[in-house]
Amino acid sequence: MSSSMRRRLVAGNWKMYGSVVRNQPLLEGMAAQAGSLREVDCAVCVPFPYLSQARAQLKDSVVGWGAQNVSERAEGAFTGEVSVSMLADFGCRYVIVGHSERRSLFGESDELVAAKAEAVLQNGLTPIVCFGESLDEREKNVTEAVVSRQLDAVISRIGAAGLGNSVVAYEPVWAIGTGKMATPQQAQAVHAFLRNKVAALDAGVGEQLTILYGGSVKGANAAGLFAMNDIDGGLIGGASLDLAEFMAICEAADR
Ligand code: PGA
Repeated sequence: MSSSMRRRLVAGNWKMYGSVVRNQPLLEGMAAQAGSLREVDCAVCVPFPYLSQARAQLKDSVVGWGAQNVSERAEGAFTGEVSVSMLADFGCRYVIVGHSERRSLFGESDELVAAKAEAVLQNGLTPIVCFGESLDEREKNVTEAVVSRQLDAVISRIGAAGLGNSVVAYEPVWAIGTGKMATPQQAQAVHAFLRNKVAALDAGVGEQLTILYGGSVKGANAAGLFAMNDIDGGLIGGASLDLAEFMAICEAADR
């Protein structure tokens, strides 16, 4: 299959930024401008308190919305946690799981990330499962070993079939929020590696898997990334807080 047959996605990750007042024009602009996109899906993952606002402002648009984290548990006495069914209640289509900030700052293990991905799938939502190496790991030449280990944990829990209903994001930790984007060739190499690993288990799932790149993507550097055969879109942090930048990235993905 050629890359043009895979579904493309550009998803914003607002992280812990926003306010009702600041979100309003951003969501309104996305809803208005995304309608002209043809070949790319567009979504935004917002902090939990703004899911209601995202739904209200995006429900009549082509823009999907989702969360940045979720509990792996269904319900119970788990103070402060949010379940997948709660996200479904707010019309979420996507949930980011295993973002490197969750792994490194909040101690999420490969196994916990896999359990979260499984919970998301069980509720019919789409996990955006993140993988990536640190600068130290890249310099030690263990990038493939690290992303392999992270991917294997997910595969052992949800199988290739589960990945068929998931989106994967490759986000080198050293490129996140640093302004140091991976070169298109560096990203492509890891994307192809991940795709080949999945394809070895299930050729069809490997070929159709949407693999996003994340890490310092901007309007100005997006086209070079999206020109690579195995890069099917982006997971966008900082630039997703700026309407013009975010829409420029979406347009770059819309061949
Ligand atoms: P960035 O973040 O675009 O600000 O580098 C990407 C991410 O963390 O998903």
